[in-house]
Amino acid sequence: MKPVSLSRFLIEEQRDKAQIRPDLRLLIEVVARACKSISIAVGKGALGGVLGDAGATNIQGEAQKKLDVLSNEILLEANEWGGHLAAIASEEMDDPHPIPHRYPKGEYLLVFDPLDGSSNIDVNVSVGTIFSVLRCPEGVTEPTEAAFLQPGAQQVAAGYCVYGPSTILVLTLGDGVNVFTLDREVGSFVLTRRGVRIPEETSEFAINASNQRHWEAPVQRYVAELTAGKTGPRGRDFNMRWVASMVADVHRILTRGGIFMYPVDAKCRDKGGRLRLLYEANPMALIVEQAGGAATDGHGRLLDRTPRGLHERVPVFLGSRQEVERVTAYHREA
Ligand code: F6P
Ligand code: MN
Repeated sequence: MKPVSLSRFLIEEQRDKAQIRPDLRLLIEVVARACKSISIAVGKGALGGVLGDAGATNIQGEAQKKLDVLSNEILLEANEWGGHLAAIASEEMDDPHPIPHRYPKGEYLLVFDPLDGSSNIDVNVSVGTIFSVLRCPEGVTEPTEAAFLQPGAQQVAAGYCVYGPSTILVLTLGDGVNVFTLDREVGSFVLTRRGVRIPEETSEFAINASNQRHWEAPVQRYVAELTAGKTGPRGRDFNMRWVASMVADVHRILTRGGIFMYPVDAKCRDKGGRLRLLYEANPMALIVEQAGGAATDGHGRLLDRTPRGLHERVPVFLGSRQEVERVTAYHREA
């Protein structure tokens, strides 16, 4: 079979299946092109002079890495002028970025975490870009924060790009999940997995176990049952993995199943959680649900939450459906 490029895939979604509009196709192509540039910058590492701290902190109070700032600039610059967007919001920027008046405006809002897993940049472990696409509310011509505060279920598209041994783009347009691998010689993303399904059966979990003493009772119970292994209530051994890049952990789960947890704990309770609803939780939740998995905040479906702020943080449980349902049930019982 002939390889199918991302461009061809999108044109077929637009023309043959009428699944997407031309301006959404353009948007995805532009984001993918920006991800290629970020992939090149990440790949150069020390040779590109891009490692290390930028010397500033973002609104989350986190030290920005040079590559955080560069990736944010690449995504902004690529997306400003195409006429497909009304505004942009980024984990690395305090406020929404308006489309400059010299360019036409479109009907979509783009939201991204330009470089997820920043703590892994300097140690050469996989990092990635996460993005989410919303429709700009009708009648809004100068979108402010309020325009972005839509439940994740309203996302029209979401995806992430992992910069690992290979560069991989995972995309949902609300009709299943497809995976594209960057052909570095040709410079094009090629469809390599169609209609991804998260395996239902899983014996793998992901959590930052160093926070154990801070966890709430339902998470303590759930993880204790997993680590009790064969002789415990689950009757089998579970394996643990934690890359500390959400993109890489979620990608493993999409590939071989598992559950990813970043619960709210005593350490991050005042912030509401560790991960960001708009830039991380919602896009990943849409992808996971579209691949047959589940995603909750421990109590309800993540995609049903109405965000209260651009940078709101939430607890996250996502992956293989049965496991997510179990840990969510433990929260309800408590
Ligand atoms: O963006 C936040 C993030 O870096 C995620 O990519 C990752 O899952 C998590 O934080 C890692 O958290 P910790 O530093 O607690 O391991
Ligand atoms: Mn992140």
